[in-house]
Amino acid sequence: MKATAIAPSNVAFIKYWGRVDDVLRIPINSSISMNLNNLYTTTTVLFSPEFLEDSLTIDNESVDSSRATDHLNRIRKLTHTNLKAKIVSKNSFPKSTGLSSSASGFAALTLAATTALGLSLSEKEISILARQASGSACRSIPDGFVEWRKGEDNESSFSHTLYKEDYWDIRDFVIIVSTNKKKVPTSAGHSLSFSSPVFKKRLSEIDEKSAILKKYLKEKNFQRFGQMVEDEALSLHEIMQTSVPPLDYLYPQTRLLMEKVKTWRQKNIPVYFTLNTGQNIHLIVEGKNEKVLKKLLGSAEEVKEVIINMSAKGARVVQNHLF
Ligand code: PMV
Repeated sequence: MKATAIAPSNVAFIKYWGRVDDVLRIPINSSISMNLNNLYTTTTVLFSPEFLEDSLTIDNESVDSSRATDHLNRIRKLTHTNLKAKIVSKNSFPKSTGLSSSASGFAALTLAATTALGLSLSEKEISILARQASGSACRSIPDGFVEWRKGEDNESSFSHTLYKEDYWDIRDFVIIVSTNKKKVPTSAGHSLSFSSPVFKKRLSEIDEKSAILKKYLKEKNFQRFGQMVEDEALSLHEIMQTSVPPLDYLYPQTRLLMEKVKTWRQKNIPVYFTLNTGQNIHLIVEGKNEKVLKKLLGSAEEVKEVIINMSAKGARVVQNHLF
């Protein structure tokens, strides 16, 4: 009753921000993302009658397992078991810094736990389960470029592949400016979104925005695509900054990099940024511009570490266990 899964984190081009159901994590809008091949979580789950309670170790540190236990309870219900589990998880990147470790973490936990219990579920069913633990985790289940259709209830809100990972050669440079943990959890941000006076306007435009982004993705029109991704990140931060109370996840280093991206574009280097709930920033370029961007970043003192990503497969079971 042991299984291990690897799941990628993902970067959203159209963001999930705000929910209509906080318990089931049904989003107020659909979102679009890309899985990231170098930002991933590996998780091994073992169910055994020897355990009196669930335990969770992340990156060699024993941590509070209550959110994982809530998720395992959903999964245990499906097989009518009460067996407790030992969970060991490793991230390839710093967690709680705005790089969506909860997406990769809960996607990997969902697949590892359902496999360990012998459940044979469809991609849709696994995505639905993962969504209930962390919304964006449902986008880390299918391969490549992914859409999470908001749906209207538990059964209709899940993700599917728009295009496989080899569809478009684009790179997501994850720029770590600091590994400090965020002070306000993303969940609190989702709830605050409704207090922003500009949130209604965002929602009235979001379906059309998604349709246009999908068109640029289909045409592989990088400049239009990139501009829209950047505008969407700014829209997310506008909502955060006008929420009551306001939320600001950005650091001075983040803002300096946002400015630098603009100046690089003026020099005809097509590079665009996106942001989530953290100080670290994603820069998007086409594969052919990877070297140019690497060079530019080499002289930027705000940069602590760079993780370069391509589009990746979704969650998968592997045979190498962590214990
Ligand atoms: O899945 P959560 O609750 O961690 O929310 C993710 C929110 C954003 O990262 C800001 C946007 C997104 O769609 O990933």
